[in-house]
Amino acid sequence: MEQAGSNFYDDEVVFTNYIRHRQRVDTPNETLEKPVMIDLIQPITGKRILDLGCGDAAIGRELLQYGAASYLGIEGSQKMAAVATQTLAHTAGQIIMQTIEHWTYPHAAFDLVIARLALHYVADLAPICANVFHALAPAGQFVFSVEHPVITSCDRGWTAGTLRQDWVVDNYFTTGLRVTDWLGGTVQKYHRTVEDYFHLLQEAGFLIGNLREAHPQRQHFHDVQTYERRKRIPLFLILAARKPI
Ligand SMILES: C[S@@+](CC[C@H](N)C(=O)[O-])C[C@H]1O[C@@H](n2cnc3c(N)ncnc32)[C@H](O)[C@@H]1O
Repeated sequence: MEQAGSNFYDDEVVFTNYIRHRQRVDTPNETLEKPVMIDLIQPITGKRILDLGCGDAAIGRELLQYGAASYLGIEGSQKMAAVATQTLAHTAGQIIMQTIEHWTYPHAAFDLVIARLALHYVADLAPICANVFHALAPAGQFVFSVEHPVITSCDRGWTAGTLRQDWVVDNYFTTGLRVTDWLGGTVQKYHRTVEDYFHLLQEAGFLIGNLREAHPQRQHFHDVQTYERRKRIPLFLILAARKPI
C-alpha cells in the first residue's frame, strides 16, 4: 500500500532504511544537494530560519552553530520529529510536528525558509508558496530542493534496491502523482516540470534569483567512481527566490 510523504517515513522499515541510507559515505544528499543549499543560503548569521520537512534537523544544529538567530523545523513524521527534537537538544532550535500543508504560517516571522527534498511529496504547492511568502519578512529568501523532474517523471526500468544503470525520462509533461518503490516501501510523489516550479514561485510573488542542478564537484566525493556516476544524470533541482522589499 502506497503512503503519502510523512506517513511513508513513519513506516518502521522505511525509517530504518532511510537512517541507514543517510549514514552511507558519499550520499547524494551530502555530496550534491547540501553543498548547493549551503552556498545559496549565505550569509547565515542572524537569520531566523524555517525548515519545512526538516527530517532529523541535522542542518538546524549546523545553522545555529554558524550563527543563525533561530531555527524552527516543521516535520510531519512522528519518528523524524522525535529524532529532530533529540538533534536540537541543548540548542535554541525548535521542532513542531505538523505537516507543511496544515501548519499555520506566522506573518513576516522568518528571513529564510528552506525545504530540502520535501516539497515533491506535497500535492498542491501553490498554497505552500503563498504561505511561505506570507511567513517571510521583506527581502527574505525561499530556497528549496526537490528530486529533479527528470527523475520524478518516470521510474521505469529501475528495480528498487539495485544500482540504477539507465534512466528513462517519459511522460515529462504529464504532471501529478507518481507511485514508486523506495527504501522497502511504496511512496506517493508529485512530478512537476522545471517550468512548473518556476511559475509556482513567480505566481506567489517571488523574484527568482537562482536555479541549480547540483552539478557534481569532485571535492565533495571520497570515491571517484561515485563522482563519475553522478555526472550521468541530475538528481536534484534547487531554486532560490526572494520576497520583494
Ligand atoms: C527526504 S526527507 C528530507 C529530510 C530533510 N529535509 C533533509 O534534507 O535531510 C523528506 C522529509 O520530509 C518530510 N515530509 C514529507 N512530506 C511532508 C509533509 N507534507 N509535511 C511535513 N513533512 C513532510 C518527511 O517526513 C521527511 O522527513
